[in-house]
Amino acid sequence: MTAPMPQPEIVHVALGDRAYDILIGRHVLDAAGARLGALGARAAALVTDETVSGLHADAVASRLERAGLRGVRVTVPPGEGSKAMPQLERVLNELLEGRIERGDIVVALGGGVVGDLAGFAAATLRRGVRLVQIPTTLLAQVDSSVGGKTGINAPAGKNLIGAFHQPSLVLADTALLDTLPARELRAGYAEVVKYGLIDDPAFFSWCEENGAAVLAGGDVRDHAVAVSCRAKAAVVVEDEREEGRRALLNLGHTFGHALERIVGYDGTRLVHGEAVAIGLALAFGFSAAMGLCDRDEAERVARHLASLGLPTRLADVPGGFGSPEAILDAMAQDKKVKAGRLTFILARGIGRSFVAEGVPAEEVLSFLRDAERA
Ligand code: NAD
Ligand code: GLY
Repeated sequence: MTAPMPQPEIVHVALGDRAYDILIGRHVLDAAGARLGALGARAAALVTDETVSGLHADAVASRLERAGLRGVRVTVPPGEGSKAMPQLERVLNELLEGRIERGDIVVALGGGVVGDLAGFAAATLRRGVRLVQIPTTLLAQVDSSVGGKTGINAPAGKNLIGAFHQPSLVLADTALLDTLPARELRAGYAEVVKYGLIDDPAFFSWCEENGAAVLAGGDVRDHAVAVSCRAKAAVVVEDEREEGRRALLNLGHTFGHALERIVGYDGTRLVHGEAVAIGLALAFGFSAAMGLCDRDEAERVARHLASLGLPTRLADVPGGFGSPEAILDAMAQDKKVKAGRLTFILARGIGRSFVAEGVPAEEVLSFLRDAERA
């Protein structure tokens, strides 16, 4: 007799007529056929990257076929470079050639890159088709697959072209993370820690105790994914279109996006979650420098991230970060810049983050000059 499957955790994202479930747990993919079948589509187009295609796409495709859905598969190269116009154009054309209609479904099977790209394709194909997210990285399971932000990068900056397009379903099968390289797991963990730092100090303490176990896998990791999804869902329900509170989810991202831009989105140097880890440490360091937060708290944040092998200092950017001026310049393209003044997410302590508007550029520059020497 086989042991009964543990029940998946279900987080409901209560967005009225755009509401959906996030199913979390090992082997929730087994529910893919029934869940997608219930959406009443005739075809499902699997958009994935070459790496994930080789590892997990056949298992997903066979479940969808068994549920009676005609299958189409579109595969893009792995990495941030695919979140760009040429790949978007290719994906859209292949979806059209595959006769994906208004009532059909686009399934994003992959990390945040595939989720953002396929999500944006779904938002625009025939003025919008339904999207199902099957995230395969820790980062995508705890953050990017939830909340409906989709898009691609532009030469002027990251995520500058996009749309809000909520998924109809998210299947976060934590068993898919078993094949994820350790570096990508660590990078995704930065986004887990972020939820503690925003408004849940008890969860940050839990991370300090359990961070290594989260990276090792098992129930502890499933718990971290569920807490993260619940935290993100709560923010998205309150502020779907980032008119207020949702901006807190960008903690660490103003610095992080600037660093990603500086390294030319070169994942061999810095992947998104690593940039966020440095950004989180810098956001707390900057908060301490501005007298908003205790220096001990800022050090505690950097210490925890570093203890799990994440980069936390400007000096940790492989190949260098240019100069403080280059970082400021890269921030100038950020969506969070209004009339030349910068908007940051800063903190009065762990779990006490807030949106700080109108931060003077000189203060940022002076902090970055100090951080350069740290
Ligand atoms: P990614 O999608 O590039 O995946 C990282 C790498 O892991 C890739 O090489 C991929 O092929 C590989 N991979 C994926 N799943 C795997 C698996 N199960 N086994 C083995 N290898 C696997 O990167 P990411 O960190 O998942 O996502 C980063 C992107 O997400 C960034 O573009 C960022 O801007 C975006 N993002 C979006 C949101 C949002 O709300 N939409 C939020 C956070 C981040
Ligand atoms: N990751 C930021 C957001 O979803 O709003």
